[in-house]
Amino acid sequence: MTAMARVVVVTGAAHGIGRALCERFAADGATVIAADVDAAGAAETAARIGGVAATCDVGAAESVADLVARTIREHGPVDVYCSNAGILLRDPDPENAASAPDADWARAWAVNVMAHVHAARALLPDWIARRAGTFLATVSAAGLLSQIGSATYSTTKHAALGFCEHLAITHRDHGIRVAALCPQGVDTALVRGASAREPALLDGLLSPEAVAEAAFAGLAEGRFLILPHPQVAGYVRRKADDHDRWIGGMAKLRRARG
Ligand SMILES: NC(=O)c1ccc[n+]([C@@H]2O[C@H](COP(=O)([O-])OP(=O)(O)OC[C@H]3O[C@@H](n4cnc5c(N)ncnc54)[C@H](O)[C@@H]3O)[C@@H](O)[C@H]2O)c1
Repeated sequence: MTAMARVVVVTGAAHGIGRALCERFAADGATVIAADVDAAGAAETAARIGGVAATCDVGAAESVADLVARTIREHGPVDVYCSNAGILLRDPDPENAASAPDADWARAWAVNVMAHVHAARALLPDWIARRAGTFLATVSAAGLLSQIGSATYSTTKHAALGFCEHLAITHRDHGIRVAALCPQGVDTALVRGASAREPALLDGLLSPEAVAEAAFAGLAEGRFLILPHPQVAGYVRRKADDHDRWIGGMAKLRRARG
């Protein structure tokens, strides 16, 4: 399927995983629309791959609708939409799980959750009519497990996964494919500045290119859940087997993090 992808949109394309996804799809011959709120960064990515730069704030419904409409108008139907942009806002007081201000909750909700909803709303009419379309959301292992030190990230990534599951179930019979990319630590600006003892970083930091390659392979295999860090599957199983024990283990990890 992805080998045939002609038009691919990637959000959060200026840096990190988004830029690597752009490079991977461009290497496959797709016309890639590199979209980001950072216009200069999007332009740099587009220049590197011979793609098209777009400025878009994924937290704003009109901005996402405009990105999709412009893409269809100028390049044709969207084959793959990579809803990748995301933000990690840490708890201001790590000793208080409810310390994030409402403004942080609103920002995290808009970028990490509503961005996917805005995109789906803009894409679905055309995808249902064509009985085709692939939605790849960059979620996180935090959407399956948790993110020590960030209530907003843990919660919004769980919500993002919930939406992806709903999207996949509702539109499977319309021929629409959905995948959730759930890496742990990836060497990007998002995690730089984190404590070197951050559990997810100690458990194998991947390059953005390795994550993009895993995403590409996972799409080709038709997977819903794409886990670039294979050990995450085991953690999820252990969580499901004994939730109480898992909470205890996570508290221990948090303590060890210092
Ligand atoms: N780095 C990690 O360890 C890791 C692990 C799991 C999941 N993720 C997820 O991967 C995705 C990409 O993150 P990354 O690690 O490449 O980080 P990054 O900070 O390198 O890149 C994120 C990009 O998103 C853009 N962006 C932020 N807000 C935006 C908005 N409102 N509209 C449009 N673009 C916006 C930024 O300008 C930036 O270019 C995120 O969804 C993140 O949650 C990252």
